[in-house]
Amino acid sequence: MTTRSEPFRVAVLGATGAVGQRFVTLLTGHPWFELTALAASERSAGRTYRDAVSWIQTRPIDETVAAMSVHTIDELMDHDFDVVFSALDASVARDIEPEFARRSLVVTNASAHRMDEGVPLLVPEVNPDHLALLPAAEDGADLPRGIVANPNCSTIGLVLALKPLASAFGFDRIFVSTLQAVSGAGLPGVSSYQILDNVIPWIPGEEEKLEIETGKILGRVRAGTIEPAEVAVSAQCNRVPVVDGHTLCVSVDLKGDPRLEDVREAWRSFRAAPQELGLPSAPAQPTVYLGDDAPPQARVHRDLGRGMTTSIGRLRECPILGYRFVALSHNTLRGAAGGALLAAELAVSRCARRGGE
Ligand code: A2P
Repeated sequence: MTTRSEPFRVAVLGATGAVGQRFVTLLTGHPWFELTALAASERSAGRTYRDAVSWIQTRPIDETVAAMSVHTIDELMDHDFDVVFSALDASVARDIEPEFARRSLVVTNASAHRMDEGVPLLVPEVNPDHLALLPAAEDGADLPRGIVANPNCSTIGLVLALKPLASAFGFDRIFVSTLQAVSGAGLPGVSSYQILDNVIPWIPGEEEKLEIETGKILGRVRAGTIEPAEVAVSAQCNRVPVVDGHTLCVSVDLKGDPRLEDVREAWRSFRAAPQELGLPSAPAQPTVYLGDDAPPQARVHRDLGRGMTTSIGRLRECPILGYRFVALSHNTLRGAAGGALLAAELAVSRCARRGGE
């Protein structure tokens, strides 16, 4: 796919955390990216990755990666990486990511720079054209510098379900109620005493992210900036005792009174740039419609398309907004490391081709 023969050299910042571990797992054996450096806090630096990490993935750590040293962020600052994946907390990411972005393409899961004017908030199937916000690659470089941000994990499932509807019909108003997995809270996250036998109908900052990010992602590039889509989003977010997989109950006012069958077909036939380019992390189908009587369920459907497919079901009429449905998206794969990896694949694939033109 890319015109380069050697792999892209990549680093992971925040490699010991929940999302960092997902990055490490997905990068192991990746056909384009070679994991060359790991960084975390001073607490972990100087140790091997095996000793520094509390590994929570079902797949064992790759032996080569386990033996790698964990560095401080400062130790990696002057190195030249092609791509830097960031799984840092937003408070740490805010100052650090722009520093790395001067020398590398930074693809981040942190929220610190999502709404910055020059930062694409990228879901590769939804707004691949937003990569145009990145400054052009400098002479001699075959990759751009800058930050590409992964949206909030709930927003990603929402916009994947909405994009085929935006293209086919359009809408102005959305109501979404979420049921979000505990893995979205990172490590250590919510305590077992808080979440077992319980639903917590408040996730600080989450509703605002869904309401603001959706407009940016569905917006248009105009004169080097994003003109947000004019869509009103009302979100209510709940933490539920599920390990992985965010469920979204959505109502939307589709324009033109489409038949329910046309709405189902919009999801079934949806394909986009990652599928056309055959990117390594792209699912064959970004959205699947499971059926009117087949609701998406976290434990059953979250791993569809290797955790990159959004499952949708229970389309029916809504007495208030016209249409309603249920969607499910894997929050730490599509909603975090997997989504960021796909974004990086799209960016390097576009640029390598641009460099070859
Ligand atoms: P560490 O494990 O050494 O604390 P999570 O969101 O799951 O808590 O993960 C946060 C990640 O960010 C971890 O890898 C953590 O490393 C890292 N981290 C936290 N604070 C800093 C910091 N000040 N500098 C560098 N890395 C940090």
